Amino acid sequence: MTLQAIKWNKADGKLEILDQTLLPATTSYIQVKGVKDGWNVINKMQVRGAPAIAIVGSLSVAVEILQHPNYEDKKALFQTIKDNMNYLVTARPTAVNMNKAANFFTEIADYLSYSDEFTLSQMKDEFIDRIDKMLMDDIKDNKAIGKFGADEILRNVPEGSSVRVLTHCNTGSLATAGYGTALGVIRSLHERGRLEHVYCTETRPYNQGARLTAYELVHDNIPATLICDDMVAALMKTKQITAVVVGADRIAANGDTANKIGTYQIAILAKYHDVPFYVAAPLTSIDLNMSNGDQIIIEERSEQEMTHMNDKRIAAEGITCWNPAFDVTPTSLITGIIMNTGVSKPSDGSDFILKYSALTIN
Ligand code: MRU
Repeated sequence: MTLQAIKWNKADGKLEILDQTLLPATTSYIQVKGVKDGWNVINKMQVRGAPAIAIVGSLSVAVEILQHPNYEDKKALFQTIKDNMNYLVTARPTAVNMNKAANFFTEIADYLSYSDEFTLSQMKDEFIDRIDKMLMDDIKDNKAIGKFGADEILRNVPEGSSVRVLTHCNTGSLATAGYGTALGVIRSLHERGRLEHVYCTETRPYNQGARLTAYELVHDNIPATLICDDMVAALMKTKQITAVVVGADRIAANGDTANKIGTYQIAILAKYHDVPFYVAAPLTSIDLNMSNGDQIIIEERSEQEMTHMNDKRIAAEGITCWNPAFDVTPTSLITGIIMNTGVSKPSDGSDFILKYSALTIN
């Protein structure tokens, strides 16, 4: 059985997401009946992970269109799509993927609304087909990231030997349409028989590592061990880690990368212990509007995530909390950025922005 975070049936317009707040104890799907539901499941982190957020958000617009078939004309449909896409971007601020998807699909809707080749009904069908394609494209991109990442990590180890990898947060099937980005690299290494062991961090406070990544690794029978977030230095000192691979929520033009809180300190520890540190993400995670990571807005979430576990208070009453959901790892700490088009090495001095600004990114 494959893990499926998103269930989408274009024929009947039904969208369901696996409620990730209940994993691993309970497997329960929630129906997303329109854009309001889409916004809520993203905001509450019932679906999370940058690519999955963009896919569910966009699919919720498709559901909305299918649920309300009576648009006055193509301009009215375009305006609804634009408003809905802009609204979805506000659900969570740090990951760029929903933002990129909103711009991309708004441009498509604009084109379709002006083009004489499409009637109102054809515009709807064409638009929904384009959104539907996102799921397959994401899996294809993840498989390419997996291949490039495994090639890159194995390039630096003796022929035939296997590797020990550390990852943080959840970047797998639950965070994407399937396979995963950083976890896709790990899956690819495992499929080649070259993964000796993977370590995953707990990823406090939401515990994406302990609840979700550990769940995926056990599900796929990948040899894995869970560690607490404060064990990374000890792990690197004693367990001969070959490489770290993490995901990304937004990559600035210079290669600075926002990812789950705790990524930055792992990168510092990797530098100290001389362990290569890789970011794995699709091209769509690059935000050329931001010249560096200081411009990335970091989402701050509720104190409750830190003070409570399953509604039971675990922190002292009266203490104040700071709960940033992401941090930014400077490009100088990143060995390579593994993308669906290949590996970029900003720390080698190659100019990240010049190399990628010429590409059409949608
Ligand atoms: O807060 P989350 O769980 O949405 O954060 C997820 C991450 O930081 C992931 O590493 C990132 O989105 C990449 S997922 C392929």
